[in-house]
Amino acid sequence: MNLRFKPRKDTETVGRALAHDSARGHVSGRARYIDDMLEPEGCLHLAPGLSPVAAGRIRSMDLSAVRAAPGVVAVLTAKDVPGLNDWSGSFGGDPILAEKEVVFHGQVLFAVVAKTRLEARKAARLAKVEIAETRPLVDVRDGLKSGKTVLDPYTFEKGDPAGKIGRSAQSLDGEIVIGGQEHFYLEGQISMAIPGEAGAMKIHCSTQHPTEIQHLVARTLNIPDAKVYSECRRMGGGFGGKESQGGQWACLAALAAWVTGRPCKLRLDRDDDMAATGKRHDFRTHYSVGFDGKGVVEAVDVSMAARCGYSADLSLGVVDRAMFHADNAYFYPEYRIHTDRVFTNTVSNTAFRGFGGPQGLLFAERLMDHIAIALDEDPLEIRRRNFYRRGRAVTPYGMAVKDNLLEDIVGDLARDCRYQQRRKEVATFNKANRFLKRGIALTPIKFGIAFTLKHLNQAGALVHVYSDGSIQVNHGGTEMGQGLYMKVAQVVAEIFGQDISKVEITATATDKVPNTTPTAASSGSDLNGMAAKNAAVKIRDRMAKLAARLYQGKASEVVFSKGQVKIGSRSVRFEEMAKRCFLERVQLSDTGFFSTPNITWERETKTGNPFLYFAYGAACSEVMIDTLTGETKVVRVDILHDVGASLNPAIDIGQIEGGFVQGMGWLTTEELVFDDKGRLRTHAPSTYKIPSCSDVPEAFNVKLYDYPGKKPPTIFHSKAVGEPPLMLAVSVFSAITHAIASIRPGRLPMLDAPATPEAILRAVDKMN
Ligand code: MTE
Ligand code: MOS
Repeated sequence: MNLRFKPRKDTETVGRALAHDSARGHVSGRARYIDDMLEPEGCLHLAPGLSPVAAGRIRSMDLSAVRAAPGVVAVLTAKDVPGLNDWSGSFGGDPILAEKEVVFHGQVLFAVVAKTRLEARKAARLAKVEIAETRPLVDVRDGLKSGKTVLDPYTFEKGDPAGKIGRSAQSLDGEIVIGGQEHFYLEGQISMAIPGEAGAMKIHCSTQHPTEIQHLVARTLNIPDAKVYSECRRMGGGFGGKESQGGQWACLAALAAWVTGRPCKLRLDRDDDMAATGKRHDFRTHYSVGFDGKGVVEAVDVSMAARCGYSADLSLGVVDRAMFHADNAYFYPEYRIHTDRVFTNTVSNTAFRGFGGPQGLLFAERLMDHIAIALDEDPLEIRRRNFYRRGRAVTPYGMAVKDNLLEDIVGDLARDCRYQQRRKEVATFNKANRFLKRGIALTPIKFGIAFTLKHLNQAGALVHVYSDGSIQVNHGGTEMGQGLYMKVAQVVAEIFGQDISKVEITATATDKVPNTTPTAASSGSDLNGMAAKNAAVKIRDRMAKLAARLYQGKASEVVFSKGQVKIGSRSVRFEEMAKRCFLERVQLSDTGFFSTPNITWERETKTGNPFLYFAYGAACSEVMIDTLTGETKVVRVDILHDVGASLNPAIDIGQIEGGFVQGMGWLTTEELVFDDKGRLRTHAPSTYKIPSCSDVPEAFNVKLYDYPGKKPPTIFHSKAVGEPPLMLAVSVFSAITHAIASIRPGRLPMLDAPATPEAILRAVDKMN
């Protein structure tokens, strides 16, 4: 196969396709997760007691049998919390332990602390809890009807969309139900708290946001932030599910350690994890659109109702991002983009790779398919006619699309994967086959990079050069498998011209770098890469100054490269130079800080630029469906994705492949089913189907786009990669739509997401 990326020539270590620093550790089992850490002497274990009903008032809780059970050391209830009984990092309303009210099935009522985890779990079952049950609001429709919300509705509006749609040559309306998604991080939620000196508390937590964990533990125990040490070496996956939702378990472990004075660990059982933690928001999206005879959109009116669950959590940002991506790649001259943030008696839905973007984007792509099928045109053609381009480049949030690569990427991919020919072949196949149907779709993505909450766009780092020339790096970003630590290490190695093997990566800890923001919004390397670079440059400049003094040159002419420090014709090893710095009393350690420039979004006035730039990509997927069984096979996938000038192409391609397959799971097999009592029925891998190795498309060609022209103003001109590729999987959904549509041309299949075999069969039935 041809090269999947073009090697860069402007750097030494940045841009190399180096393996993830823990690659060997991950596959050999030697990478240590919190549950692998040696437990401190006397460590106790927690198990939560979860509510068996979704809504009601707690009448009584008889925990005497729990307390008397073997191994039990303590049983915690809301009364034991010395500080604030709320683990929310945002709007509040997330009790660590239930007080009077139960708002969802799986809510923590009490927690058992015992000598072993098994004893704690067994004891938790002995509680006698009486709850006066009320009828729960489960479905997004129930919630909408009740009028209960967790946050106010929010709308982007321009022109007179309803009027315009009425006057357009053609118009359509439709609805799509978009399912949620369980994170299914392989390492579940876990925290271990260790009481320290004079009322201090150390907390090891699997979290994307160690600083928030620090603050929450301090608030729960009513102690200053400075007394809490929060640390995370790695997560076994986060995917957004540990951006906020590690908080409750950290608070419980810390509370138990506080009450008992002993180290305490809480690792959720998988079923409990699925029942008690938030997921991707599911959406019910209603739209109407007016367009001209060529399928060019004139006005859109879309309402998205998101199931937020019992509290706000991160729903403000998540549902806003659905609005920021309800255009995806397309220009809407007039629009009304409206969202409702619906309360339901279910877990509090949260961040999940794409952060609401995928739900918004899926709507935009459904819209294109709908128009194309109505006009009997190639959907790719309709998509292209609606692309942002000069003169049609302003988004519904008022930001101009200035770095547009849509036409370049889509054009290259369509040519390379022979989209046009294969579309004809698919049509021929579908004519010849009655039950098996093929479908092909090429869909683009445009994803805005930055946190839409301005203050989150900042990062800090701490870099030490030791006198033997080795380097230690620390920053506020967390490692969840995405390769952030390696990328930042490469940045630091590059600055010092030192070999990557000399750079030591260390755990993220709030006592090393304070006041950090979550590793999320794909901005980990953008932010922490810059902060670490700033720290390293400060040290390097001091080293260069000394080198200039010692070897009679100019500091500006000192070059750090290939493990050497060069001044004119002189060259000394970096190790030697570090030693000289120590002897000459030059500071070899420094901090770095970065805040993203030009982020000006004001939510109230709906003005300014929420994003620093856009990441682009496109995917072409071909599927085969069996219209008798509803089964789907993804036959071939071609991807061309924009990561700017890659910091590490091996890691980036891994992110693209992983993100795509995770998106495919969301759109095809992963289905969350709540019963009418609000109980999640799919709370284990036996009933909740994430993709397995055999679901990875057999032909899966991923290429990095060779970035031309103007370079993004980012760390070594790279672009964020963590979330955007998930949305490339929309091409699979669209290809399935195409396959079903072939049954009866001109009619849009009533296909909802996920396109499970059942959903496909239902859609096929409606075509006949
Ligand atoms: N990749 C792996 N292997 N594991 C993860 O948990 N999380 C994703 C993405 N890629 C994730 C992942 C999400 S939701 C985000 S926001 C980004 O990584 C965060 O990391 P970054 O900002 O360093 O890309
Ligand atoms: Mo990612 S959903 O921004 O943690």
